[in-house]
Amino acid sequence: MERLSTVTFAKPADEGELYDILADTDMGLAGDIGEHIVLREGAAIRAGGRLYQADEALFHLMVFAVAGDERGRGTGRRFLRALTAGPWLHCRGGVEPPGGSYRITTMAKGSATGFYARAGFRPCKAAQLPALFAGQCEGCPDREECGPVPMVYTGSSRELPERGRD
Ligand SMILES: CC(C)(COP(=O)(O)OP(=O)(O)OC[C@H]1O[C@@H](n2cnc3c(N)ncnc32)[C@H](O)[C@@H]1OP(=O)(O)O)[C@@H](O)C(=O)NCCC(=O)NCCS
Repeated sequence: MERLSTVTFAKPADEGELYDILADTDMGLAGDIGEHIVLREGAAIRAGGRLYQADEALFHLMVFAVAGDERGRGTGRRFLRALTAGPWLHCRGGVEPPGGSYRITTMAKGSATGFYARAGFRPCKAAQLPALFAGQCEGCPDREECGPVPMVYTGSSRELPERGRD
């Protein structure tokens, strides 16, 4: 049975907890805490990330992580599914793509490509990422160890059930 969880924007008070989840895998907060999204169960944050809307039909997942002791229990899948189903709902000021279809890109850690592939992402060229992020790993001292892979997900809001569009 799936556990009860909610996906919401992070609040200022969440900053320390989300920072710890991201720092555990050498990631950091990507800008203002209020731009991030978190998956909560009760009062606890189980996962967090940040989505960015680059243009009306292109989104970029800047950071994404599940709390260390939560991994391998389906939490990442549930969180990512919520984000891919309606990414505009999880970006501050997000706008639903007028044509219905959209893409979500990310620069996946090499160790996480299998996870993203299970969720429908496919490897792509770095040039398919929003220009702001296409070169994000260049010059990073951890690049070789991390083995980043650009990936893309293609979705359509027209495939959502009616209640999903409310
Ligand atoms: C990668 C991460 C987000 C996965 O979250 P998770 O909650 O552990 O994953 P889930 O339990 O929801 O797994 C969903 C599916 O993906 C698979 N999977 C999970 N991690 C995987 C990995 N690293 N490689 C291959 N498959 C993986 C699971 O086996 C499961 O498969 P199933 O559909 O056959 O059951 C999490 O391990 C994490 O936060 N890692 C550290 C940070 C990180 O790498 N973030 C991604 C940055 S780009």
